[in-house]
Amino acid sequence: MPPAPVDRLLLGITGGIAAYKTAELVRLLVGQGNEVDVVMTEAARQFVTPVTLQAVSGRPVWHDPWDPRVPNNMAHIELTRDKGLVLVAPASADFIAKLANGLCDDLLSTLCLARDCPLAVAPAMNRQMWENPATRRNIQRLLDDGIEVWGPAAGDQACGEVGMGRMLEPTQLAERVARAFTPKTLNGLRVLVTAGPTFERIDAVRAITNLSSGKMGYAIARAAWEAGAEVTLISGPTALVPPPVARIAQVSSAQEMLAAVNAFVPDADIFVSVAAVADYHVLNPSDQKIKKDAHILTLELAPNPDILASVSALADPPFCVGFAAESENLDEFAEAKRRRKNLPLLAANFVQTAFGADDNALVLFDDDGRHPLPRASKLEQARMLVAHIARLYQPR
Ligand code: C5P
Repeated sequence: MPPAPVDRLLLGITGGIAAYKTAELVRLLVGQGNEVDVVMTEAARQFVTPVTLQAVSGRPVWHDPWDPRVPNNMAHIELTRDKGLVLVAPASADFIAKLANGLCDDLLSTLCLARDCPLAVAPAMNRQMWENPATRRNIQRLLDDGIEVWGPAAGDQACGEVGMGRMLEPTQLAERVARAFTPKTLNGLRVLVTAGPTFERIDAVRAITNLSSGKMGYAIARAAWEAGAEVTLISGPTALVPPPVARIAQVSSAQEMLAAVNAFVPDADIFVSVAAVADYHVLNPSDQKIKKDAHILTLELAPNPDILASVSALADPPFCVGFAAESENLDEFAEAKRRRKNLPLLAANFVQTAFGADDNALVLFDDDGRHPLPRASKLEQARMLVAHIARLYQPR
């Protein structure tokens, strides 16, 4: 297989204390397969050294518009010509004002003006500077010019004040970079995803649940977000950091998950049912902790509703994608499940290798047959599944 094309970006660093986080940002970007060229302003070099950024990016770091290392001596043109994105992080109030007005008096501002690729800025400044009418005007002008503004977030500031103006964290910026490089195959579509286990209460401290970690469902929510979808994630109890999707509903039992799905499904174009929904719930859970004095304790269990089957049976269902976790006869059981639940697409995996693991090997079943995906991380699997959904999806 030919090597995957490298997603190249230029990271511009301006003068703000958040510049100290850019070494970590570059490390994350390189780790997710990006090639990163760094350009620093004079002020940025007061906060972090070019040597640090050269070490983590593995590439020369630039700041001088007259740098003779660029073959035709036009760093302000050449440095962006092979890039898919320019990200300025942190973007100071001063740099944002320059961008808003087309000023170009150093290498970074000049190459931003001369670029022919998308530009995103991650503002970072004191809350009063962020709220100042001049900054508000400048930010609006950037948005009007098609420049993306990522953040800022609210919270503690280096100056000791609290409010809006913190740069997004490196992990949040890195996930937005991944999104920027993803083809928008689900652009504007509304995708509903269920993830994780359900938790069926027995008493005040005990429950019936299962080993689902939620990793696969969260990865699918993230992959759909990267592909431009408006994503709603309905999650059973997990220990995962949520992806940056439009909305997240935390639920516990299958009944709660069903209620949340019913609330959101009328607005969904695509429903991906990844949750490992418990098949049964306890008929009479106790509000108090059950004491262990009984020799034999009998729990009465009643079947849970099949959430996916109820959605696919709607008069005008969204495009429904099911999951099957099997311990044997994967193909036979998965295809039977797909037909029984009337699904255009079902993704199957072995419980022995899927539950809790970080990677997976899904097999997709649709009307054209069986499509095994190569073993990869759950995020890579999710991206392949999303690409497959985008190919099959027909607007209602
Ligand atoms: O449990 P089962 O193997 O039938 O699960 C297959 C698919 O149905 C999965 O996508 C799962 O999320 C969904 N399901 C559901 N409600 C249930 C049981 C399963 O939505 N009660």
